[in-house]
Amino acid sequence: MDFDIITIFPEFFNGPLSHGMVFQAQKRGLIDIRIHDLRDFTTDRHKTVDDRPFGGGAGMVLKPEPLFRAIRKIQAERTLSSRKVILLTPQGKRFEQPQATQFSTLHQAILICGRYEGVDERVTQCLVDEELSIGDYVLSGGELAACVFVDAVTRLLPGVLNNSSSVINESFAVIENALNLADGCILDYPHYTRPEDFEGERVPDVLLCGDHKRVERWRRKKALEKTLKNRPDLLQYATLSEDDKQLLG
Ligand code: ADE
Repeated sequence: MDFDIITIFPEFFNGPLSHGMVFQAQKRGLIDIRIHDLRDFTTDRHKTVDDRPFGGGAGMVLKPEPLFRAIRKIQAERTLSSRKVILLTPQGKRFEQPQATQFSTLHQAILICGRYEGVDERVTQCLVDEELSIGDYVLSGGELAACVFVDAVTRLLPGVLNNSSSVINESFAVIENALNLADGCILDYPHYTRPEDFEGERVPDVLLCGDHKRVERWRRKKALEKTLKNRPDLLQYATLSEDDKQLLG
């Protein structure tokens, strides 16, 4: 999959995309990330990317011309059957795990990092397929959100987590422990590793007993308890068995 990121802070991406799974996926040729400096698509001496809003008001708005030029050039470089132009903005639809899964089927995502007070609406109207927000808070720009998008989508691509495309659906529940969507959205259970005793804090005995049935039941109980404590809103969508209800007490 190709990610084309349009930004006024190209150096921003040197760090976040050069580590771990996203870095490995690039090295292995599973994804290609290209960073485009919006200022390269300006024509004036000062490389102006923003201007004051018509109608007045605070802040600056990203001008349409450089963005139109950038997107048209990126689109003209190759013909791909499935691609989307995505604007990262707090005004967007929520980007959550189901959306990450949908976008992971694309061949190319062209990501526009919004800045200042916003982006000229004609860009959104004429070029943007989806406006996405990563959460109900206002960041100073779309760059962090673009990194979140690349990371969340990349780890779902066939081969990235050693999951071949043929088994991706079967292993979905296993891969997606952290938000076990196959289970109707409950949070992950707690994990422990060595040492068994860390400064007097012991690993729960049940995890050392070797009885897989007991371990599974304990994990389910802990996952349900964590969901009730941290994300009670998710439980309304979860399909709870009689046993689950009993585990929750
Ligand atoms: N830009 C600023 N805030 C944002 C958010 N919450 N999501 C996506 N892009 C943003």
